[in-house]
Amino acid sequence: MDRVSVTRRYRFCAQHRLHTEQLSEEENWAVFGKCNNPNGHGHNYVVLVTVTGEIDPRSGSVIDLRELDRLVDDAIVKRFDHRDLNQDPGFAGRTTTGENLAMLIWDLLVARIPRGRLEKVGVIETRDNYFEYAGSSPCRVTIDGASHG
Ligand code: NI
Repeated sequence: MDRVSVTRRYRFCAQHRLHTEQLSEEENWAVFGKCNNPNGHGHNYVVLVTVTGEIDPRSGSVIDLRELDRLVDDAIVKRFDHRDLNQDPGFAGRTTTGENLAMLIWDLLVARIPRGRLEKVGVIETRDNYFEYAGSSPCRVTIDGASHG
């Protein structure tokens, strides 16, 4: 049976501050720059959820997109939209980087996909920052070296 990947896009707005208790104030500033601003800053996050599976011959689809939408809305969008990521328990002990956000979204979705399997999670944080996690090691792509914030 042919396997096909389906990618659906979701959005939420959230604020965060890149900061870790494991570094001093000066070191945090050196590592994170303006993204360490104590007042935080916001992003319009775009999340790309890719599910791979066999086509259901009855529907012609890999997954019911309305079902996927309900799942992602409940588990991801409602959780993060208009929130401070630094206050989310999923980031306890972790900085709120795009890498960690992609991994957290993966963890929140992977066991709940009703058909097929979660192939990857992509997070667009800024015009130039895209993060992707596929259940192994995350990678960060900075297209033109522009700053994170
Ligand atoms: Ni940021």
